[in-house]
Amino acid sequence: MRFDVLTLFPAMVEGPLSASILGRARAAGAFELGVHDLRAHGLGRHRTVDDTPYGGGSGMVMRVDVVAAAIEAVRRPDSHVVLTEPAGTRFDQSVARRFAGLPHLVVVCGHYEGVDARVRAHLVDEVVSIGDYVLTGGEYAATVIVDAVARLLPGVLGNADSIHEESFSPGLALEPPPYTRPRSFRGWDVPDVLLSGNHGEVARWRRSEGRALTRALRPDLPVEDEPAPKRRRRRTPATTLDGDEPGR
Ligand code: ADE
Repeated sequence: MRFDVLTLFPAMVEGPLSASILGRARAAGAFELGVHDLRAHGLGRHRTVDDTPYGGGSGMVMRVDVVAAAIEAVRRPDSHVVLTEPAGTRFDQSVARRFAGLPHLVVVCGHYEGVDARVRAHLVDEVVSIGDYVLTGGEYAATVIVDAVARLLPGVLGNADSIHEESFSPGLALEPPPYTRPRSFRGWDVPDVLLSGNHGEVARWRRSEGRALTRALRPDLPVEDEPAPKRRRRRTPATTLDGDEPGR
């Protein structure tokens, strides 16, 4: 998958996405990322990117012609183009999964004083917000989006299982709490079940702790009920609804 981020402050996006897990995965070719300076498409000797608002008012507005040129320099027929602004679709794990299935995501970083409304209306496929608060610009939002999407791509995380067991996966809203050595610290002990060596018990404990945590901290998230204990299979069922052959 390829990401292209269009921003007035490339260093704010390039830095975080070059470090740690994503930096290594990017260097290894698990995904491609281009971070582009919108000012490269600015006008005149001063590479102007914004102008005063029509109708008056304070602040400067990012120009539609500049943003159009920047998008058109990277857009491909299979691109999905998003603009980051507080007034957008809320970005969450399901949006991250949807974006992770795309071949090319272009993220246009909004500007704290506003982007000409024709960008939203004509140039992007979707407007995305990372939460109900106002940032100075869309750079942190773009970084959050690229991080959350890239880590879902094959080859980015070492252990593919962690993607399936993590928070916000269906049926496991928040992750169970992790523990490591020392076993006891200031009288704070690791739960005995984790030291029991009983993998079934540990798995059950983790699921139940994840559920309890979710109910306590995020009552808005759905929590699957504990599955009923498995009944023993009858060896000779009267009917064969599950495809079993009687007598087998
Ligand atoms: N730009 C400013 N605030 C934002 C937010 N909450 N989400 C996305 N982009 C933004």
